[in-house]
Amino acid sequence: MAEPFVALVTGASSGIGEATARRLAREPDARIVLVARREDRLRQLADELGSASAIAVDLTDENAPGQIRQAIESEHERLDLLVNNAGNSWHGSFGEAGWANMDLHMKLNFEAQLRLTEAMLPLLRKTAQASDRRVSIVNVASTAARVSRPKAGAYSASKAALAMWSDALYAEEQPRRVHVGLVLPGFVATEGFPQTELRSRALTRWIVSRPERVAEAIVDAGPGGKAERYVPRPYWLAAAARILAPALVRRSTAGGGFRPSPATKDE
Ligand SMILES: NC(=O)c1ccc[n+]([C@@H]2O[C@H](COP(=O)([O-])OP(=O)(O)OC[C@H]3O[C@@H](n4cnc5c(N)ncnc54)[C@H](OP(=O)(O)O)[C@@H]3O)[C@@H](O)[C@H]2O)c1
Repeated sequence: MAEPFVALVTGASSGIGEATARRLAREPDARIVLVARREDRLRQLADELGSASAIAVDLTDENAPGQIRQAIESEHERLDLLVNNAGNSWHGSFGEAGWANMDLHMKLNFEAQLRLTEAMLPLLRKTAQASDRRVSIVNVASTAARVSRPKAGAYSASKAALAMWSDALYAEEQPRRVHVGLVLPGFVATEGFPQTELRSRALTRWIVSRPERVAEAIVDAGPGGKAERYVPRPYWLAAAARILAPALVRRSTAGGGFRPSPATKDE
């Protein structure tokens, strides 16, 4: 009998996570475990996908990683792919929003990813030892991990922390046969990040991507074995520009570049 492909996707109740769950469900013998807070959304998606189950938790709760590990160990006894995708952004300058806003971002966009990974790592390693198939972790950061903008410093810092940790984990887990991939999306229109202002202007509409494109990149960076994927791909130029021409990037983000309205979230 073929081995099942068990994938855990956080933030699966909308946007990139939902698109990823739909994409992964097309893999042979896929069993998708959907995680987010909104149980009704997860159950509806699980019913639609068929071989899927839902775990409704707040990932910032202390008990969430243990609860998820227990559910997966008892239901599947293996894990082939962990997609650390859940995240959010709350606008505010440091002067206005202060440490409290930084703490919110770090708890959800960084600490929760590490705590869940720590809980799942033994099962991922065990699965990798017993299987010929690639076992992987995909961390969903952002191009904001490489280029910071006003009022999005806390978001950028949390995503930069995730990206840098991800690089170290990639090297650490290689000998254990657990692959670690990093995905850095640019602007993607989703429920949580509607990109309303960018989409409303003909000049900027084209830079807004779709969650399905990020889902393909997540497959590339997980089962596909890529170490890093920007979405869309040319966004790596923004990261390169930050290293090669920092003054130029600083000028464009602080002044003439796109500045989100208060209702617009960061990429
Ligand atoms: N869209 C973009 O432009 C963009 C660009 C770069 C990176 N990203 C990153 O991509 C990821 C997905 O974002 P998205 O655009 O798909 O936004 P989204 O539609 O708002 O999805 C966010 C997901 O995270 C879940 N979530 C939020 N807080 C949670 C918590 N405390 N516990 C458990 N789940 C929680 C949400 O579900 P519940 O509310 O049901 O809990 C939802 O499923 C995020 O990490 C985001 O930073 C997005």
